[in-house]
Amino acid sequence: MARVLVTRRLPGGMDPLVEAGHELIEPDGERSFTHDELVGIAPEADAIVCLLTNSIDAAVLAAGAPRLKVVANVAVGYDNIDVDAAADHGIAVCNTPAVLDETTADLAFLLILAAARRVWEAESDLRAGRWAGWDVDQYLGRDVHAAVLGVVGFGRVGQAVARRATGFGMEVLHHTRRDTGMAGWRGDLDRLLAESDIVTLHVPLTDETRHLIDARRLALMKQDAVLVNTSRGPVVDEEALAVALEAGAIFAAGLDVYEREPEVHPRLLAAPRTVLLPHIGSATLATRTRMAQVAAENVVAVLAGEPPKNAVTGG
Ligand code: DGY
Repeated sequence: MARVLVTRRLPGGMDPLVEAGHELIEPDGERSFTHDELVGIAPEADAIVCLLTNSIDAAVLAAGAPRLKVVANVAVGYDNIDVDAAADHGIAVCNTPAVLDETTADLAFLLILAAARRVWEAESDLRAGRWAGWDVDQYLGRDVHAAVLGVVGFGRVGQAVARRATGFGMEVLHHTRRDTGMAGWRGDLDRLLAESDIVTLHVPLTDETRHLIDARRLALMKQDAVLVNTSRGPVVDEEALAVALEAGAIFAAGLDVYEREPEVHPRLLAAPRTVLLPHIGSATLATRTRMAQVAAENVVAVLAGEPPKNAVTGG
C-alpha cells in the first residue's frame, strides 16, 4: 500500500487508487492544501494528485524526493509543475490529455459564437432593462458561418474545434511549427493571423508561447477579427489585447483563461465586445470526473511499476 497526497478532494475520481488499496491523504472539506502544507506532507507521499492551481515547484518536489515517485496533474496543461526539477529527482509527471478535448472544444466554439455575435453584451442589456425593442442596427456582429478560422496549435483540442468549424462551413487554417501535411497549414503564424477572421488558441504555455499574441501580432489581425483563448492566459499579452479592443483594432475577444488567475486585467473587464469566462473549458461533470480518474489511473500504473498512459516525463 502506498500513500497518495491528493491536493483537493475529488469525489468519485480517486476510485482507482482506493480499489488498488492505496491510502489517500486529502484536505478536509472543499479546500485545497496550501503550498506550505504540500511541502510539509510531500515527504510522506509516494504520489501526488494535483490541480492546475497547485504549484508543484522545486520546493515541493525536493521535499518529496526520494520517496515521491509520480505527480499526476488533473489537467492536460502542466505548466504548474516544474518538470525539470521532477526529472532531476526521477519523479514521473503525468497529465490527462484526450478526455477533455471535445468538452473544451465545445467551450471554445461557444466563445467564438458568443464573441462574434456579441451575445453577452446583448443579454446583459436585456436583463438590465436597457433593451427598448428591436432595432435594425442593434448588436451587429460578425458572421461565423463561412468565416476563415485560424487555429493556433493543432493538437487534439485544436482539431476538435476545427471539426466543429467544418459544420459551420468555415475555411480552417492551422498553425504549428512542424508541417502537418494537412490542408490549411500555415508555418508562418503572422500570415495565419492576417488571413483569419477568427483566431482560436490551443497551444501549451511554454517559454516560446508566453505572449505569443502580443501587440505586434494583434496589429496583424483583421480589424473585424475575433480572438478566442481557451489555452493558457499568458499566451496572450492581456494589456496589449485590452488596448487593441479599446482602439477597435480587432472586433472582439472571448477568453476563458487569464495571465494571473483568478485576477482579470481591469482593462479587459472594461474592454468592449469582450466575453470573459472563469476557466471552465473542461467543466462538465462527466469530463472532470474522467480527468480525475485518469490521473488516478496514471498513479496506479506508476506505483505498480508499469508505464502510465499519459507520461509527460518519465521518472
Ligand atoms: C487543462 O486541463 O489544462 C484545462 O485548462 C483544465 O480545464
